[in-house]
Amino acid sequence: MEKNIVPHNFSIAQPQRSDLKKHNPLLIWFTGLSGSGKSTIANTLEKALFEKGVHTYLLDGDNVRKGLNSNLSFSPEDRTENIRRIAEVANLMIDAGLVVLASFVSPYRDDRENVKRIVGYENFVEVFVNTPIEECERRDVKGLYEKARTGEIKNFTGVNAPYETPMAPDVEINTIVISVEEAVAMIMKFIAKKI
Ligand code: ADX
Repeated sequence: MEKNIVPHNFSIAQPQRSDLKKHNPLLIWFTGLSGSGKSTIANTLEKALFEKGVHTYLLDGDNVRKGLNSNLSFSPEDRTENIRRIAEVANLMIDAGLVVLASFVSPYRDDRENVKRIVGYENFVEVFVNTPIEECERRDVKGLYEKARTGEIKNFTGVNAPYETPMAPDVEINTIVISVEEAVAMIMKFIAKKI
């Protein structure tokens, strides 16, 4: 399929875009169970970055699955394709010079590794929102754990589908003991030198 595709070289490239924006691009990848607090932390972090004049964009599972990935299910193959497309979108956004915050369950280690490969290791920061399943289930903000327990939802991560924990995340947050503000401060500290 790629045989007759010849990439075009355009006059404006990534470094010029970053010069204009006055910071480097980055992908901050939030992984963790549904209801672990990924999107809440990402949202607060984006506000903090925005206030510092950083050009950001937030990609979120529930939103992306309503549009770009509306044809994908939660089967292992479709989750892999979900994450692959998001990585390619994030890669374009990195080329555009943005700091991208991506909040996806992304339960498979190989898929997250593929994201790193697509965007480049130097552009990738992994944040593991490590809230225990008991706590996610107690909160059950969207009522999905209850539906999973009664069998109304099949393949629900943590209940009847796997979650492979990151081996060496850049930042790890247990939201039982760390507040949203503390989590944002931890991530800000980690990314300060990168952007
Ligand atoms: S991923 O596994 O492919 O990375 P993604 O982050 O896009 O998942 O979407 C997860 C969101 O979809 C959850 O926050 C939850 O609201 C909803 N959801 C619906 N069904 C499932 C399911 N079977 N497993 C996990 N999340 C689900």
